[in-house]
Amino acid sequence: PEYATSGAPSPTKLSCKKLNDDQIQRMRRACKVARQVLDEVLAQVRVGVTTDELDRIAHSRTVELGAYPSPLNYMGFPKSICTSVNEVVVHGIPDSRKLEEGDIINCDVTVYIDGMHGDCSETVFVGEVDDAARKLVKVTWECLMQSIDIIRPGQQLNAIGLVVETHARQNGFSVVREFTGHGIGEAFHMTPYVAHFYEPDNKTLLEEGMTFTVEPMINAGGPECKFWPDKWTAVTADLERSAQFEHTLLVTAKGVEILTGGRTPFFLKS
Ligand code: MF3
Ligand code: CO
Ligand code: CO
Repeated sequence: PEYATSGAPSPTKLSCKKLNDDQIQRMRRACKVARQVLDEVLAQVRVGVTTDELDRIAHSRTVELGAYPSPLNYMGFPKSICTSVNEVVVHGIPDSRKLEEGDIINCDVTVYIDGMHGDCSETVFVGEVDDAARKLVKVTWECLMQSIDIIRPGQQLNAIGLVVETHARQNGFSVVREFTGHGIGEAFHMTPYVAHFYEPDNKTLLEEGMTFTVEPMINAGGPECKFWPDKWTAVTADLERSAQFEHTLLVTAKGVEILTGGRTPFFLKS
């Protein structure tokens, strides 16, 4: 991508326009590679593995598949994926800490190939986790999937946040407001920004051919975030746990295509 050397994403690629058929085909490919790399990273999550090791696996598999790991040097981000453990809400930087029994970890993989970015993430358990963590992760996944269910041309963009916020609150959880889903395609992040809470005045309508992410961050405690001194790692202000799931989506004539779909989340398997 244009920022790989400079670290600076191009300001001319701001708005996500309706994609043509060729762009849609390239988005399908980028999202399929992102999903494949994410699945391979998640398969390596276990007690004792460091997030640096997950980053190395993601980096080498992404490059082997002919893609570029989109986070690398995006506004100076130092690694190829984000790994967000326990109270880390988002943008955790892989490091030398070993995963411990009872941790929850979100791995967020974005790749760039054929001129397009594909972006997805999942939160998984490290060994056995407590019931509160199980419920947080399950409800966060339900927030994502229930909001995807209502996506179709003509739907208001703010219907997504309404569904996410309603389901999170019904379960006693809170929704992070500082970070949103985003238009995606030739640029990593562009308009429209997709709030995961209800914005009554945002009447933007969804149109066939739009591609964007939904990526709710749901907190066990309060919604407030603070930053580590590295200026990337966002943590909950109360240090309670946070979970996240993300898909890249295409609005189709009939509804929606989950471009990064595939795997059945582990906690739904019997
Ligand atoms: N993948 C993240 C998202 O869902 C963005 C990571 S940007 C990085 O939007 F620079 F932190 F990698
Ligand atoms: Co994203
Ligand atoms: Co992401």
